[in-house]
Amino acid sequence: MKVTAIKGFSDIFPGEVETWQAVEAKARQVFTAYHFAEIRIPILEKTELFSRSIGETTDIVEKEMYTFEDRDSRAGESAEATRLTLRPEGTACVVRAYVESEMYKVEPVRKLYYMGAMFRRERPQKGRMRQFHQIGAEALGRADPFIDAEILLLLSDYFTALGLTEPTLQINSLGCAECRPQYRETLLAFLRQRHESLCGNCQRRIERNPLRALDCKEPGCIHATKEAPAILDSLCAGCREHFAAVQRLLRETHVRFALNPRMVRGLDYYCRTTFEWTTTQLGSQSAVAAGGRYDGLVEELGGPSIPGVGFALGVERLTMLLRAQGNGAAAAPLLYIVWIGERARDWAFPVVHRLRREGLTVEMEGETRSMKSQMRRADKLGARLVLIVGGDELDKGKALLRDMASKQQEEIDLAKIVAELISRKAG
Ligand code: HAM
Repeated sequence: MKVTAIKGFSDIFPGEVETWQAVEAKARQVFTAYHFAEIRIPILEKTELFSRSIGETTDIVEKEMYTFEDRDSRAGESAEATRLTLRPEGTACVVRAYVESEMYKVEPVRKLYYMGAMFRRERPQKGRMRQFHQIGAEALGRADPFIDAEILLLLSDYFTALGLTEPTLQINSLGCAECRPQYRETLLAFLRQRHESLCGNCQRRIERNPLRALDCKEPGCIHATKEAPAILDSLCAGCREHFAAVQRLLRETHVRFALNPRMVRGLDYYCRTTFEWTTTQLGSQSAVAAGGRYDGLVEELGGPSIPGVGFALGVERLTMLLRAQGNGAAAAPLLYIVWIGERARDWAFPVVHRLRREGLTVEMEGETRSMKSQMRRADKLGARLVLIVGGDELDKGKALLRDMASKQQEEIDLAKIVAELISRKAG
């Protein structure tokens, strides 16, 4: 019987994986220019890391985490300590690593990025997986609005570098420990009056976490919260000033954005600036990247009071978008050698090896096939150039190099093939 993959978990095959590689390589390049360094964090963490950071009353913690009891737990450890969870996101893990390693003692300002699989037991649909991949960045130790703007500029530059028609940026401010409690009360009073119109989930959690109702996708909740008081009207002077500075910096650097005072995000650790980059090209799962500020999280996870801000983008959604816009990268061979006769094959084999050692993608067959069938294969693989070599060519020391796009052929010196190909690759 066939064993199949788990629902919501996917393989990424050649043909598609090249776009992933391009996305990852470009991220490393752009993020490094912004002075972010890579951190590699474990896939499995203690459950309490996520319940304490993302929040007990969020969808992720309430119903989407892959959690299990660790069988190796020793007697005497609390039940909590033995519960492990496949990471549903990376921010909590990065902050845990930052606190645990006491990185901040050497230098509190750390700009870190990560790439990898995340796990959420959501209902799978287009653009929504149970195992998905994020590329994320976290800037720890800076409270100033310049770093919020820098994170958004980094994303904007990254999208441009990928040749992507930029998704739309929406921003909001969620206030801070000083002004949020007041807003929470105002919103709660508003929601209590509309209790009957809210979904069961929201009815259950509004007393503990009324902001969640603004993020609920149920039509009843969307309707009931249409006229809800906006958080932007409740910001304290410090938060207002900070948010105004972020907006000014975005305008000065020509990053287009819209204000969305209803955006509360699905995780509880946020304060002040939050943002989402969305697109209309992906159907209902429209958020390509999202993030914001989380000034209380380092302290919540046992570290000193150190601010943070960051984002994560969904690689599945980004690569889908790139392909939809015709920007998918393909790893076609630069050269395909068509050989006729064993002498030509034995000449071609070490030449292919030399070219590959120069980093060029080159292909040839091992078994005897007609010239026509080899040409067809070169075409199917999307080879840019084809070199046709038989006994006559070897005797003359010259062969025809065919450009598959223009169909033009030119004679080239076989002794100089490696240098010739390197210069073409560079060109
Ligand atoms: P998030 O909004 O939960 O934020 O996820 C960020 C991005 O991950 C989403 O915009 C989306 O592109 C992608 N994503 C999320 N869930 C799925 C899924 N089930 N299938 C496919 N893609 C998905 C965070 O995770 C925060 N840690 C972001 C952050 C970093 N905030 C501060 N620093």
